[in-house]
Formats: sequence, structure tokens, C-alpha cells
Amino acid sequence: MIKDVVVPKTKEVKFIFFSGKGGVGKSTMSCATAVWLAKKGYKTLLVTTDPAPNLSDIFSQTIGHHITPIHGIESLFAIEIDPDEASEEYRERIVGPLRELLDEKNLQVTREQLNSPCVEEVAAFDKFIEFMDDPQYDVVIFDTAPTGHTIRLLELPSGWTETLAGNSATCIGPGASLQSAKAKYEKAISYLQDRNKTSFVFVLKPENLSIVETKRSFEELSKLGIETSLLIVNGILPAEAITDDFFRHKKTEEEKIVERINRELSSLPKIYYPLQDQEVSGIDLLNAVGRLIYDGKEEKRKARPREESAWTLGRTHQRNDLCGSLFVPSNGSRYLFFTGKGGVGKSTIASTTSVCMAQRGFKTLIVTTDPASHQRTRVRKRRNPLRRISIPPAPKKWPPSSAS
Ligand SMILES: Nc1ncnc2c1ncn2[C@@H]1O[C@H](COP(=O)(O)OP(=O)(O)OP(=O)(O)O)[C@@H](O)[C@H]1O
Ligand SMILES: [Mg+2]
Repeated sequence: MIKDVVVPKTKEVKFIFFSGKGGVGKSTMSCATAVWLAKKGYKTLLVTTDPAPNLSDIFSQTIGHHITPIHGIESLFAIEIDPDEASEEYRERIVGPLRELLDEKNLQVTREQLNSPCVEEVAAFDKFIEFMDDPQYDVVIFDTAPTGHTIRLLELPSGWTETLAGNSATCIGPGASLQSAKAKYEKAISYLQDRNKTSFVFVLKPENLSIVETKRSFEELSKLGIETSLLIVNGILPAEAITDDFFRHKKTEEEKIVERINRELSSLPKIYYPLQDQEVSGIDLLNAVGRLIYDGKEEKRKARPREESAWTLGRTHQRNDLCGSLFVPSNGSRYLFFTGKGGVGKSTIASTTSVCMAQRGFKTLIVTTDPASHQRTRVRKRRNPLRRISIPPAPKKWPPSSAS
């Protein structure tokens, strides 16, 4: 049964991870699961490791970097891990005990080592196992950042032996701190690998790109000895939405994708959750999601007047010729940054723009900073996660002679 994936079977803490591509519904599903479990009486802590968290928005209350009780649900608590605060706490944990032992010069050297950007990753992992070692909850749910970041985090300890064997001065801190932390990290990994203690849930949309990323991440996880427990396919078009040719076509495409999911991820239990006609936030809606997924009970949906429904809004397109005006380089290279929430279409718009600029004769370089895009090569080459991803050099010649 699907609920067996999330309900604790022993008195030990149960850990549940929700992972997946940007914008597929990880936060929605982790919040819904947390509400469902807390309502069943399990003392539940919901932790987000996403540096751009939205639990506060979903529950309409301030949460932040401290464990906060969720209004209206007795057994539910949440925390949004702030990478800066977590890094500061980590630095203090390392430097604190050394104050009595080292002189100011050596303390300064240690502080400098701990100023490296990779401390943020190490601190996030440290914070995350702090909860894994805390027996006061029945369940701890991790709402993670999009897949690339999470796999990267979970890979951290595997590079440590190498780091220890090489140089004792790392960005994690002095070798001695690393040595003492190693046992702790190995224990955390053994928890992650234990199916009775940890469940790993992938959320995906019925889209080909979502399948590709899920399969890749599922394989990367199994290389780390971590098994996937459940797939939630979120956003299936409901029958009542199929009212015109546009949606009939979309449904036919979706059916092909669902077939592909069933075929290519056949070994995994799956649940299909329908697209709703509004965003999912607030206790009542989250409760309805949990009841459908884990109890199989569908709440009766209130009929909404046609003029309020989403598809009557904004089917018009305004064509702004950005490539021909706003984005055109005027004095040397022009740098365009595409940013936004997970799954909103950053890669699509960035790729479209780069093709459009190149077609106009501008020599164009497209660079992605998304760890998920690098996953395959990164995992092959970067067993030690402390190494940096290199960004390709800028094009040599500018401006292009053919640019108009
Ligand atoms: N089944 C659904 N029907 C309608 N809206 C949904 C559904 N599932 C999620 N949403 C909405 O989609 C948006 C993205 O969901 P959510 O924030 O849970 O995704 P995420 O995977 O956590 O995103 P990110 O990668 O940015 O953290 C939210 O506005 C949410 O309310
Ligand atoms: Mg999220």
C-alpha cells in the first residue's frame, strides 16, 4: 500500500525525502504528506533544504531557520534551512573548540579555510544530519531543492576518504574536524540506505524531460546505495478539462508519456495526482491532497463558474521582438541571465533566445549553472564533490562580422 511508504513502522524516526525536477510539486507533496501524517498523530518535522524555500507561503505563516509549530495542526513543525545561517553555525562549531588551543594567527588560517563557497554545501549536509540524529520526532520529511542540488548533497561523504588521504587542509576545515565528523556522516548514509528508516519519493510531471531527469537521478541514487520508494506523477489532466481540441491533443500526448513512465520505470510503485484548478496551499487543500494519495479518498470539487477558470485567462500572445531590440549587444559582449522558480521554463526560454541570437549572426554562448544538467559528466568525473565545476571560456572574437 502507498501509505506504507510514509507511515513509521517502528518506534525509530522515519525519514522521507521528496525530490524531483524544479517546479514539479515537491513542496506541495511534502507539505501534504506532513499534514496527513501529523493529522494521524505522528509528531512530524518538515525540513526544507531548498535555498529558495516556500513553506512559509504554503502554510501562510513565517517559518525561517528555526523549528516552528504550524498553526492549527498540533503535531506539525517546520524549518526552512538558511544556507548562510547554517554555514555560520557550522563555522562556529569548528572554530569554537579551537579557540582555547590555537593562537590568533592559526585561528585566522582556519577561519579562512572555512570561508570557501563549498562550506555552504557541507553546512547544509551537517544541518540535515542533525535532524537525522534527533529522536524527538516520529517522522522527519525533507523537501529538497531541485534534484541536481540534492544528489550533489548526498554525494558529499563519498568524496571524503579521498580528501582525507590527500590534503588535510580542506574547505571543510582542519583534517582533525573532518576525521571526527566522518563517522557521523557514514552513519547518516547508512540511514539513507536503510529502506526501513528512509523513504525516497520522486515527484515528476507527465513530461518527457521530467522522466529523463527522474530516471537519471534514480540511477544516481542507486549508485549511492539509496533505493527509490515511490513516484508521484503530479498534474495529470482531469477528464473534465478535456473540452476542446487543444486539451484533447494534450491528453493524447500525456497518455503516451504515462505509458512511457509505466514502461521505463516499471519497477517502482506510482501514484498519479490530478492537476487542480488552483494552486495548492493552506491546510484544507493540502489535507485533500494527502487524503487522495494515501487514503484514496477524493474530496468533491466545487464547480467553479466558467469565467473564473484558468483557461479563459490569457490565451492571447503579444509578440515582443526581444532578440531584435532589447537583447542586442551594443558595446561588446552582452550577458543575459534567465532566472525564476523551478519548472517555469528558464532553460526553454534561454535556449530559444540563444538560437534566435545566433540566427541573427551574434556569436552566442549558452552556459547553464544548473547542477542537474551536469549530472552525468559530473558524477563520472567528480567523485570528490569539493572540486569545482568549470565554466567554458568566453568566445574569442567579438563582435561577429555578420551581426547587423
Ligand atoms: N496538482 C497540482 N495542481 C495544480 N497546481 C499544483 C499542483 N501541484 C503543484 N501545484 C502548484 O505548482 C506550483 C509549484 O509547486 P511546488 O512549489 O510544490 O513545486 P516544487 O517542485 O517544490 O518547486 P521548486 O523546484 O521551485 O521547489 C505551486 O504553485 C503549486 O501550488
Ligand atoms: Mg519546492
